[in-house]
Amino acid sequence: MSSLEVEIERILPGGYGLAHSAGHTIFVSLAAPGDRLRVRVERQQGNVLFATIEEILVASPDRIEPPCPYFGRCGGCDFQQLTYEKQLAAKAEIIRDCLHRIARLAEVPEIVVNPSPREWRYRLRATWQIDERTIGYYERGSRRVCDVADCAVLVPQLQQTLERVRATDWHEFPLELKHLDVVAGENGVSLAPSFGEFETAELELKIGDEIYSYSADAFFQVNPGLLAPLIEFALSDLRGEVAVDLYCGVGLFTLPLARRFANVTGVEGNPIAVRFARHNLQRAGLENARVLNAGVSEWIRKTALESDFVLLDPPRAGAESAVIKGILDSRAKRVSYVSCDPATLARDLKKLFAGGYVIEALAAYDLFPQTHHVETVVRLHLG
Ligand SMILES: C[S@@+](CC[C@H](N)C(=O)[O-])C[C@H]1O[C@@H](n2cnc3c(N)ncnc32)[C@H](O)[C@@H]1O
Repeated sequence: MSSLEVEIERILPGGYGLAHSAGHTIFVSLAAPGDRLRVRVERQQGNVLFATIEEILVASPDRIEPPCPYFGRCGGCDFQQLTYEKQLAAKAEIIRDCLHRIARLAEVPEIVVNPSPREWRYRLRATWQIDERTIGYYERGSRRVCDVADCAVLVPQLQQTLERVRATDWHEFPLELKHLDVVAGENGVSLAPSFGEFETAELELKIGDEIYSYSADAFFQVNPGLLAPLIEFALSDLRGEVAVDLYCGVGLFTLPLARRFANVTGVEGNPIAVRFARHNLQRAGLENARVLNAGVSEWIRKTALESDFVLLDPPRAGAESAVIKGILDSRAKRVSYVSCDPATLARDLKKLFAGGYVIEALAAYDLFPQTHHVETVVRLHLG
């Protein structure tokens, strides 16, 4: 594979640095805008060359020494080479790029990415890969496991748990164990699957005025520091009769919605998350909300959705076409879309714009410092 000298123009969705050379577009991993680099082309996809850094010829003023010893090999963090300020600016640029290029939004509103209260030791949830006697995260661009003894983004309780898991006798590990889901809460740590001394414990966490129970086998947000303002922004001053919370997990938005609307329905596919969501509502004394265990697209296809407000918070793949169609058919006056992937968000927004929705407000939250990932909340109303 060939070497090239390039200058990085900006950071793209996916976290790559963009460069151009000899008629090619080049995507460079782990780069900083303004870097002059000698890069090695690893593969070609269409007209795009994917490259890695061989040598930093002139470092960008935004470049810092990545503090983590696993940086570059571990596939987890791809923004440690950037100052935190530049990470936030790059994420705003990523969202702007997706809204402009994919959603075809002519006038993209100003995007401010709210910083995480913690730049390190913020991660409440993780998946550790296990291969033979190696425990850590997948290596960059591979399914080989990078052996990680200290992960600087984990909250201290999870770091201690990682150390305890690594110190466990290998005979105690279930034979077929390939990965472990772990999550921390105010009252301990939960692992799935459970083995030896490690249990899939039920945990609790207070966010805003609500208490949530959850465990390692149901989705819970990674970074609790920004969740209260994110929920406030997504729901703003909305009040009314009927609201729907699609992909509701353990009820992060369902509880605050049930305090604002007379009648709330949450829809969630994971039965364990559904059980927690129902428990969380019951403990809060919120009898005006129900949680259905169903695939959102299957549910919406057979439901004549009549709702004043729809909140959707799908996984990274975004909402299925049937879900967007169901929202459009419902003519819900207000919609809040919570997304962890600006590209699929923009794909879905394009359809919502075509159906008459316009952006009322947009905010972004850095739930994932040291990575290119970012959480975006878009409030829409029928124009
Ligand atoms: C990004 S999480 C959001 C959960 C919740 N809103 C929160 O913030 O904690 C997405 C949730 O959607 C669920 N899910 C994924 N695909 C689904 C589908 N097709 N139908 C129903 N639920 C789905 C997952 O189990 C997960 O709980």
